[in-house]
Amino acid sequence: MIKGQWYPGNMSRAISQLRQDLKAIDLIIELLDARIPASSRNPAFDKLFRDKKHLLLLHKADMAEDALTRSWLDYYIRSGLKAMAFSVHKKHYINSLLQYLKQQEQNMHKGRLKRPLRMIFVGIPNVGKSTLINLFVHKAVTKTGNRPGITRGRQWIRVLPGMELLDTPGILRPKNTEDAARSLAAVGAIPAGQIDMPDIALWLVNQYLVKDKLHILLNRYHDLDPGDADRIFEQVGISQGCLQTEGKIDEERTAALLLRDFQGGALGRLTLEDPPQ
Ligand code: G4P
Repeated sequence: MIKGQWYPGNMSRAISQLRQDLKAIDLIIELLDARIPASSRNPAFDKLFRDKKHLLLLHKADMAEDALTRSWLDYYIRSGLKAMAFSVHKKHYINSLLQYLKQQEQNMHKGRLKRPLRMIFVGIPNVGKSTLINLFVHKAVTKTGNRPGITRGRQWIRVLPGMELLDTPGILRPKNTEDAARSLAAVGAIPAGQIDMPDIALWLVNQYLVKDKLHILLNRYHDLDPGDADRIFEQVGISQGCLQTEGKIDEERTAALLLRDFQGGALGRLTLEDPPQ
């Protein structure tokens, strides 16, 4: 299903860099993918973040199912963790995050500490860390006028009054279990060259069936007769013209198309993991 080892050696370099960075950090903002909150979070990192203020952001919430995002947030609250839903595409989420940060900054400055609140974004590859940094850089540039938002190397970006953000996100190694690997591959967090695409796409089609969301696939691809995942997969290939010369479907192309559609949002909102009971 996953070809060879994914995320090799440089991940441990990233972790030791992160360990260094954390010494200067007041607030860790850990990004999870709201479609796969379990697989995009590696509890092993709790140890790394011990003694630091820690916020979980269920990112890309615009692509997840609202009801399940709420269930996940309830679950985190029950577990004693601070968590918020987020999407760079939804203004109300951005405003809630800014409000939370302002509150943290005020709390910190109630004490004797006079330096800015220092933050870092961390998360697995492709979860949206750079996008979020860019959002803040944009805000910083518009806020401070002539101050350059970002400079080369590891730098602090002065994002809002009294707050600084490390311009380089911390990259975390995702969970490395078979179950997690499928979810991670489906959302694009494992490079395409390292996954068995037909296997992942078939699994994804089955998630739509299990969750009673076949209508989404029917809407998108037309001319499909209901059937099991194999049958639907084959019909998607035929209806989208992903064919080999002998008239059989090209499984790789069919899978790539399905995964691209899912990752790009063309297959609607789907959360692949439920919170523990
Ligand atoms: P990383 O630094 O953690 O590796 O992730 P990055 O910011 O590069 O984001 C990965 C992909 O996730 C990008 O899409 C980005 O646009 C998308 N993304 C980030 N935040 C959100 C969000 O809140 N909602 C949705 N739906 N997508 C989000 P891409 O297709 O790889 O690149 P691009 O063509 O959009 O630039």
